[in-house]
Amino acid sequence: MNNIKDHENLNQKTILLRLDLNVPLKNGLVTDETRIDKILPIIDFLIKKNSKIIVISHVGRPKGRINKDLSLEPICKNLENKINQKIKLINENIFKLKKEDLFISPYDQIVFLENIRFYKEEEENDISFAKHLAGLADLYVNDAFSCSHRSHASVSKITEFLPSFAGIQFETEINALKKVTTEIKKPITCIIGGSKISTKIGIIKNLIPKFNNIIFVGGMANNIIDYKGNQTGKSIKEDNCEEIIKEIFETAKNYSCKITYPEDVLVGKNMDDKSQIKELKDIQDDDLILDIGPKTINKIKNIIKISETILWNGPAGYFENSNFASGSYEIAKAIVKKNMNKSIYSVVGGGDTIAVINQIKAIKNFNFISTAGGAFLEYLEGKELPGIKALN
Ligand code: 3PG
Repeated sequence: MNNIKDHENLNQKTILLRLDLNVPLKNGLVTDETRIDKILPIIDFLIKKNSKIIVISHVGRPKGRINKDLSLEPICKNLENKINQKIKLINENIFKLKKEDLFISPYDQIVFLENIRFYKEEEENDISFAKHLAGLADLYVNDAFSCSHRSHASVSKITEFLPSFAGIQFETEINALKKVTTEIKKPITCIIGGSKISTKIGIIKNLIPKFNNIIFVGGMANNIIDYKGNQTGKSIKEDNCEEIIKEIFETAKNYSCKITYPEDVLVGKNMDDKSQIKELKDIQDDDLILDIGPKTINKIKNIIKISETILWNGPAGYFENSNFASGSYEIAKAIVKKNMNKSIYSVVGGGDTIAVINQIKAIKNFNFISTAGGAFLEYLEGKELPGIKALN
């Protein structure tokens, strides 16, 4: 894999730069800037080299349709302030864009294309879309490691049409994850939560042989709670997961990996509600499970205490409402405590998990913060990710 840092002449070259600026937004503002901060080095590098930069990114899952709430505009503004340089957001249909439309003034150095997932061709890994994108630039750089598990046009197909390079953050993430997978100290624990259940549930079976403990929290845990014969009310869940979960438990038994899932939860009637502690047997039809309960927190803390390595991906609850943030905060604090004694190696992945850690200002107390969520887990699984394969 070639890195753009080693390229000899980038002066006046137009670079198609794939970033992952899929950051949380609220009322048109960015609520967690970590993913933006992580790509500042590549922007700075390319600016200093006098390159012209076309940023491609997505935010959310607009499924091939224009959705004003998922515009890159607030993210573009945020970056503009950070680098103190004007960035033009291009709204025109990408298929109609020509290379000469992009940098009109000689002072224009960075442009943003609007959310690439407004085009269904992106997720279809469409060849003519990729070819058209490639026609806008001289080189392609992928600095979006967190998208490398997606076989999408701006991550994968594009590399067939342009000289392609890894970016600075891309390489940093791979090197850190390589270190985790080769220099692991046991017992090793993986905490998996969050709401992107479909992305993660299929991966877990393959992670089991590598871990001593797997702890399910967040939306992920609801499927296990349901599988074990409990009500989950109106909580988020994935359909048709029984077979996968059965295999997870069987595989865990074969590899002596302990599976932990909530034994009590915090529920509300809606996302803005106050929290109420409930045992699993007491969950009602109109309840939403929005966090783990105190008994579960204690159980998890005890597992953290005996772990030498911990990987955490996905919050324990709907932390955006502070009534449902205690599960995630308590997990974070337990890891931080061990980290301060240097008695654990801790890796955290995914935009929401990073947001939790930022809220308690603990980002420096983890050994490595990966911007990647799904890509992080798939990398650990040992899979060859399409975005990495494309660069190789
Ligand atoms: C992420 O947030 O993990 C990446 O941006 C990928 O997003 P996706 O799960 O919607 O593909």
